[in-house]
Amino acid sequence: MPNEALGKAVDVLVRSRHAVALVGAGISAESGIPTFRGPSGLWSNAQRLEAFDFGRFQQNPEDWWENILSQWGQMWSLFWQTLEAAEPSLGHYALAELETLGIIKHVLTQNVDGLHQKAGTRSLTELHGSFRNFRCVRCGTRSPIGDFIEQLAPALVFKQFPPRCSQCQSVLKPDAVFFGENLPSDTLHSFALHSALTDCLLLIGTSAFIRYVVEVAQDVKSYHGALVEINPEKTALTDICDIVIPAAAGTVLPEFVVRIRGLSA
Ligand code: OAD
Repeated sequence: MPNEALGKAVDVLVRSRHAVALVGAGISAESGIPTFRGPSGLWSNAQRLEAFDFGRFQQNPEDWWENILSQWGQMWSLFWQTLEAAEPSLGHYALAELETLGIIKHVLTQNVDGLHQKAGTRSLTELHGSFRNFRCVRCGTRSPIGDFIEQLAPALVFKQFPPRCSQCQSVLKPDAVFFGENLPSDTLHSFALHSALTDCLLLIGTSAFIRYVVEVAQDVKSYHGALVEINPEKTALTDICDIVIPAAAGTVLPEFVVRIRGLSA
């Protein structure tokens, strides 16, 4: 691990007033959850990608549910089982510890797996929703999937199909944000708030493929905030980062904790 970059990052973090972590699938790869891109990524199958298109859902939600269950029901059940069984990685735990130490003020995660909460992070925005919920696209109500699903494995069995909103009776959609769907307004609000406040953005395990991730990093940079990247691979943002640590989140974040604790000892 590059010692100099690590030391610089710790320095910047300790001096920051509102350090924010913007996290992607890489941190959960160490919990056994596949990432989205790359040869074995979840989106390596183009048909699967099409299935989670917001326009398709909006056209006919009932049909969307029928199709998704007949074509992808088994995969979905397997994926949910994987997420239910997953445990936080060393990176998730270290991030929660950095919050307790007063260093990280907020986590903006693109992951839907719930592992940040499981590790103890409190100040969190799940930008792309949560696999544990369904959401009403008309009135915004979120409901736990357990209210609608009898059984996850070996196959999905619904108590109520298609699932309907308890408030307005519209057909619910998985809370996870689909392709072509805007982020829900409460999520956007929290994202805008913490992005505007941050003077140090830690980019952890994200390929920075999503446009708003690139934009927020560019904004932080233009306001003279620091950009720190933790990712074993080069990304769309590596070239504009102030500090790049090309290593795994589960190695780098615990090292931050050790060094920061060492400063106050
Ligand atoms: P990607 O799959 O695009 O990228 C994962 C990144 O994690 C890559 O840059 C890897 O190099 C890096 N990585 C892998 N192992 C790592 C490790 N141990 N430590 C640190 N980094 C590691 O995933 P995201 O950038 O999260 O959106 O993808 C962003 C969004 O695109 C997802 O939230 C999803 C997808 O479409 C929705 O589903 C709405």
